[in-house]
Amino acid sequence: MRRTIIITGATGKFGKILVRNFLIHGDVVIAIGRSKKKLNELKTLTNKKHNKLFVINVDLMKEGAISRIIKLIKKLKLKPDSLINNARNLDYLQLDQKNKTSSKNFLNEFKLGVVIPYQLVMAMTKSFLGKFKNVVNIGSIYGTVAPNKKLYKNLDAESSIQYGVTKSALEHLTKELAVRLAKNSVRVNCAAFGGVEGRVNKTFKKRYADLCPSGRMLSENEIFGPIDMLISEKTSGVTGHILMIDGGWTIW
Ligand SMILES: NC(=O)c1ccc[n+]([C@@H]2O[C@H](COP(=O)([O-])OP(=O)(O)OC[C@H]3O[C@@H](n4cnc5c(N)ncnc54)[C@H](OP(=O)(O)O)[C@@H]3O)[C@@H](O)[C@H]2O)c1
Repeated sequence: MRRTIIITGATGKFGKILVRNFLIHGDVVIAIGRSKKKLNELKTLTNKKHNKLFVINVDLMKEGAISRIIKLIKKLKLKPDSLINNARNLDYLQLDQKNKTSSKNFLNEFKLGVVIPYQLVMAMTKSFLGKFKNVVNIGSIYGTVAPNKKLYKNLDAESSIQYGVTKSALEHLTKELAVRLAKNSVRVNCAAFGGVEGRVNKTFKKRYADLCPSGRMLSENEIFGPIDMLISEKTSGVTGHILMIDGGWTIW
């Protein structure tokens, strides 16, 4: 059955993979991003003739962003059934010269990583009641475990505390919303990923491999499957679940 799926952060690493795969699968995709140029580039991701890709150019951190999204979706006469909360901003992970996190970055990371997902889920549920059924929050191993200092040359300089704290809150948000929205037949799950190869250098990759049961980082083609599964009818009995996709990182 063709689904209508909203993806935030659709122009980033995970986002592009999700948009492409859902379109190939024949789903309708509503891609949310803050760069018009990057959103237009998404249109070249598949060569399928009858792509059902709609783009919404909005900065989620701006006042009124969520009501704008709802208004535009209604104007397009679309009725979304699934939402993937995936956006993040690497700028909010910046540290100062003493490797400290500013209040501003901490609060921005929490707002984009937890508050906006919460508000989006609530707005979708209310606006598309009966049709809207699934939420997948994109989490991380760092929502469950703290960073292993053996992975970093200098943990304090390379790993920001606000990332894991926010992802941990996102896991709890998943459980809270699963309980609170069950009456609306909305399932809420979290797909928590380990490190995906691509952005790190060889020595980091080697250290990661040595610390991970699977002996490697995740590859990009391991991103889509678990998310697709969580919004599929095959997992209709699953809600409030934190699915670790981490090659076993959180076992140890
Ligand atoms: N990459 C990994 O190895 C990894 C591992 C575990 C978990 N994750 C999680 O997976 C998710 C996706 O990660 P990623 O690596 O794909 O991130 P990414 O490449 O940095 O992409 C982030 C996306 O969010 C968008 N965004 C940022 N701020 C926004 C705003 N205010 N309004 C609207 N859109 C905004 C970005 O748009 P712009 O391009 O315009 O900035 C971009 O499309 C994140 O939740 C991350 O924590 C990633």
